Amino acid sequence: MDDMKDIQWFPGHMAKTRRQITKSLPLVDAVAELLDARLPMSSRNPDLGAMTKRKPRLIILNKADMADQSVTQQWIAYYQKQGFAVMTADSKTGRGVKGFAPALRELLKDDLAKYAAKGMKGRPIRVMILGIPNVGKSSLINRLAGGKRAKAEDRAGVTRTQQWIKTSDGVELLDTPGVLWPKLDDQEAAVRLAMTGAIRDDILDKEALAARLLAQLHLDYPQALADRYKIAADAEGEGFELLEMMAKNRGMLLSGGVPNTERAAITLLDEFRGTKLGRISLERPAK
Ligand code: G4P
Repeated sequence: MDDMKDIQWFPGHMAKTRRQITKSLPLVDAVAELLDARLPMSSRNPDLGAMTKRKPRLIILNKADMADQSVTQQWIAYYQKQGFAVMTADSKTGRGVKGFAPALRELLKDDLAKYAAKGMKGRPIRVMILGIPNVGKSSLINRLAGGKRAKAEDRAGVTRTQQWIKTSDGVELLDTPGVLWPKLDDQEAAVRLAMTGAIRDDILDKEALAARLLAQLHLDYPQALADRYKIAADAEGEGFELLEMMAKNRGMLLSGGVPNTERAAITLLDEFRGTKLGRISLERPAK
């Protein structure tokens, strides 16, 4: 979805998206909020709660295959404590996706019991999927639909007739996911989204972004940096110095032996996004 990265979110877009979601809301029994398991806070749209009001909500920590499992467990506990239904998924391979219908049935069990009592046992559960660009909405819909459908138009502001996609287990999805705007006014969130490649990484220059990522990894995942880039776990230095160490250790040198930090930055971002450094979470719930 490279084109999604070029969307400039502005109030007009936001108002239109908001209208579309508000219009679709009465049609669904629940909303599924997709978050990136590596950064559940920053990949969350700040206005979703206000927009979907009291609609039952299932939080899906997607890209769980890329996140640190122990941290993901903490996030699950964190959201459950707040009363949300939570599940994890890897929508790229489909792992965990079969838990979708059971999680919804559990979330909606009181409503379903009422329908059953009224003799409406076969009534489908209708759901809308919501999330910021690149969090995996299309991938999840495709997985749930079992490859039966054409590619959905997933561009902000594109209106067309909405259709229901039947999945197994009596769950129907609105075929157009709600594309929410990311938290761009929060600089810290924007930086972390850029680290994962969810938004354009030109909000900071690549070296500055990589230096910040290295500093964070050095604190939280020192072994990963030691293993891959030979940056000692007890090495001292700011992010940019760590980037210089990485460049030297990887033999990325300019003439005169100057570390090529630009090349190192590109390599780090690529390798982090490609999970070459292992499964890493960039955010942990507050204790
Ligand atoms: P969107 O509709 O929310 O915008 O997201 P989309 O499904 O297009 O997914 C964005 C990128 O994230 C895609 O990668 C997709 O394969 C990947 N992705 C989605 N869910 C998961 C997941 O659970 N785990 C992992 N590891 N990746 C996931 P891409 O590089 O843009 O495309 P492709 O090369 O995979 O085709």
